[in-house]
Amino acid sequence: MNKEILLEVKDLKKYFNVRKGMFSTKSYVKAVDGVSFTINKGETLGLVGESGCGKTTTGRTIIKLYEPTSGKIIYNGEDITGYDYNKMLPFRRKVQMIFQDPYASLDPRMTVGDIIGESIDIHKLAAGKERTEKIQYLLRKVGLNSDHINRYPHEFSGGQRQRIGIARALAVEPECIICDEPISALDVSIQAQVVNMLEDLQRDLGLTYLFIAHDLSMVKHISNRVGVMYLGNLVEITGSNELYSNPLHPYTKALFIFHPNT
Ligand SMILES: Nc1ncnc2c1ncn2[C@@H]1O[C@H](COP(=O)(O)OP(=O)(O)OP(=O)(O)O)[C@@H](O)[C@H]1O
Ligand SMILES: [Mg+2]
Repeated sequence: MNKEILLEVKDLKKYFNVRKGMFSTKSYVKAVDGVSFTINKGETLGLVGESGCGKTTTGRTIIKLYEPTSGKIIYNGEDITGYDYNKMLPFRRKVQMIFQDPYASLDPRMTVGDIIGESIDIHKLAAGKERTEKIQYLLRKVGLNSDHINRYPHEFSGGQRQRIGIARALAVEPECIICDEPISALDVSIQAQVVNMLEDLQRDLGLTYLFIAHDLSMVKHISNRVGVMYLGNLVEITGSNELYSNPLHPYTKALFIFHPNT
């Protein structure tokens, strides 16, 4: 495998301001509290950990949906941490995110064509007939029908909606996709289909993945290396086979005790 680093996160922190009580004093939640890792080109790094440990916040902060509290995000050797909206545009095209909830992440008032076409328009990648053909091609690529272009999200099953989310991510021809629990909201019978599709797309398009999940066996299957998060920190990061055969951190060991089938 190519060992060139594509994405590097250095001591990343994201604290959220929250108010406590009626006459509140300001307080904050340390959702991500000093996370560092690298992802090589073409690699899949898995990220696991219990609910609320900061996985989604890590993903959202990397693409700067949340402004980082401190730390550095370096993409392809370029420090993008302080970039404003305009400077972020080229990077937003290269790094896409597939969201945890396929129901909430698609605007119910937009057709599938407009959902997928939105980012094609933002990045001015195609217009008119070419735009329509590109959307139809993407729908077929994720195993949907090109006739689905004029339908609305509520007319699809959960698995199909997640495929629409994947087509939207692919529309801008990204290099890297942050997959935030792309299968946990789906029926078990569909989970394998979506994971296999993500693997095929990775092979065909040379994609790099940060794959966030609860399901330890799925993460082992798809990842080259796995990072374990606990209370906003990365407590262990290693090759997926090593992690599963020789977990070092007490929290990692505890995860396996509660998920004995992995
Ligand atoms: N916008 C926000 N404002 C305030 N607190 C937040 C916000 N988003 C997340 N948090 C808090 O940050 C912590 C980490 O949340 P996050 O969604 O990153 O966890 P997660 O690991 O993705 O969990 P899950 O596995 O349930 O998806 C939680 O304590 C959560 O309540
Ligand atoms: Mg999450």
